[in-house]
Amino acid sequence: MKKIIEIDNISVNYDMDEETIKALNNVSLDINKNEFICILGPSGCGKSTLLKTIAGFIIPNEGNIYMNNQEIQTPDKSRGVVFQEPNLFPWYTVFQNVAIGPKLNNRSQKEINNICDKYLSQVELEEYKDSKVFELSGGQKQRVAIARTLANNPEVILMDEPFGALDSFTRKKMQIMIRDLWNKNNSTILFVTHDIDEALLLGTKIYVMRRGEKSIVKSYDIDYTNRLINNPKESVVKEEGFIKLKEKILSLLEE
Ligand SMILES: Nc1ncnc2c1ncn2[C@@H]1O[C@H](COP(=O)(O)OP(=O)(O)OP(=O)(O)O)[C@@H](O)[C@H]1O
Ligand SMILES: [Mg+2]
Repeated sequence: MKKIIEIDNISVNYDMDEETIKALNNVSLDINKNEFICILGPSGCGKSTLLKTIAGFIIPNEGNIYMNNQEIQTPDKSRGVVFQEPNLFPWYTVFQNVAIGPKLNNRSQKEINNICDKYLSQVELEEYKDSKVFELSGGQKQRVAIARTLANNPEVILMDEPFGALDSFTRKKMQIMIRDLWNKNNSTILFVTHDIDEALLLGTKIYVMRRGEKSIVKSYDIDYTNRLINNPKESVVKEEGFIKLKEKILSLLEE
């Protein structure tokens, strides 16, 4: 497996007036090509801090972080980010929002059209191409944000609780969509969530995080997502192995 990102024992502190908050402590992990990594942990354990550090928005206080053997120092389009809130340009159409990246890359109009069509169809929004952002539902907006990130063809996609604001029915549909996208595009994804089921059903690997001297307390290699690609009707959530692993992770988080 080709290693894309290497995180070597990083820690991140936030300096406040009166105190220093140790947000991320002694984290080491690799992101390999085609992995779907889920970062799971309770509120405040440093998940977003880890994602922002990988994205290049934050430089760690200790340790090193590399992409393809080069130190990450600034944000870069090779690492696409999808946030919990879609952050679209409200006065642009769906197409214009997705076209931003390819336009900045000086692609020809024909290439821009092809790229936008491809990814809008992958998120099932072809028909909404000319709609204004304010005309869309929350789930549709998040799909535009995903298409916009994919249109940059990033080497790694970083997603910070992208479905956190959605109702459970829409969320389930989005999970199926993101699994299909990952599979179809041979993507590499790091996905932050605090939903254990979501992590188990999407990831090929889970890192469990907690507040403390070592932010990552455990990792698990799993395969439910590939099984669901091969057989979408399989009800893995009812399997003993799935239930046991869920309980194990829950007890880790409650310790
Ligand atoms: N910009 C900041 N300045 C100061 N403290 C911060 C900042 N960002 C995060 N923190 C603190 O760092 C810790 C980790 O925050 P972080 O946002 O990484 O957690 P999280 O796991 O993403 O939580 P959530 O699930 O609620 O999004 C928290 O105590 C938080 O209050
Ligand atoms: Mg967060």
